[in-house]
Amino acid sequence: MNKLNHLAIIMDGNGRWAKSKGLIRTNGHKVGANVVEDITSYCCQKGIANLTLYAFSTENWKRPKSEVDFLMNLLEKFLIEKRENFVKNGIKFHTIGDLEPFNNSLKNEISNLKNLTANCDKLNLILAINYGARDEITRAVNNALQSGENISEKSISSHLDTSEFGDVDLLIRTGGEQRLSNFLLWQASYAELYFTPTLWPEFTSKELDEIISSYQKTHRKFGGL
Ligand code: IPE
Ligand code: IPE
Ligand code: MG
Repeated sequence: MNKLNHLAIIMDGNGRWAKSKGLIRTNGHKVGANVVEDITSYCCQKGIANLTLYAFSTENWKRPKSEVDFLMNLLEKFLIEKRENFVKNGIKFHTIGDLEPFNNSLKNEISNLKNLTANCDKLNLILAINYGARDEITRAVNNALQSGENISEKSISSHLDTSEFGDVDLLIRTGGEQRLSNFLLWQASYAELYFTPTLWPEFTSKELDEIISSYQKTHRKFGGL
């Protein structure tokens, strides 16, 4: 049975879910944020060490300002509301992506939650925000060069935002699109990929459990036999 050390999810389909219910797109994001809690607690119960969730890409700034603002506020509220739950359940909060463009209030809440959960050790919850794999790899190579290192796979990996979490084992995308949208391109080189038509607001821990069961039975070859 394959071990699952690092699970990554592209949480897609919020807007379409809202539209299908006759609601505005932002309602989908609100419901989607609640699904994060259910999926996170499932991962805690299952003993999965690292869960990376794609919440906002470097490309998502192209959306209307009103939607971007809504997402930033929702994220800040999420970080405040989840404090108790994270500490109680041993969830250590991390981010990947470039935090520089975020406003100070959001930056403060990000570092508050990181500090508050610094000693938690059940699950690493890694939120990808203003994350793009090309941006991450470019920053990693520049940092390696600045440290005077020779560029190798090892040196690049060690400078990636995910250096402490390791390669992705299973990458799931909800919402039916079959693309990676600039997510973890380096780390998912040998990940098992799973695309489900389920829109993120309707994704459940039951479906995740089924996907993981099928992942565990896959023959992972890594180029060998
Ligand atoms: C994913 O849902 C959430 C973010 C990218 C922030 P979308 O907002 O992309 O929803 P669809 O794909 O338009 O349905
Ligand atoms: C990917 O979804 C980014 C997140 C889920 C945060 P998008 O909806 O932005 O991706 P595209 O535009 O369909 O590729
Ligand atoms: Mg989308």
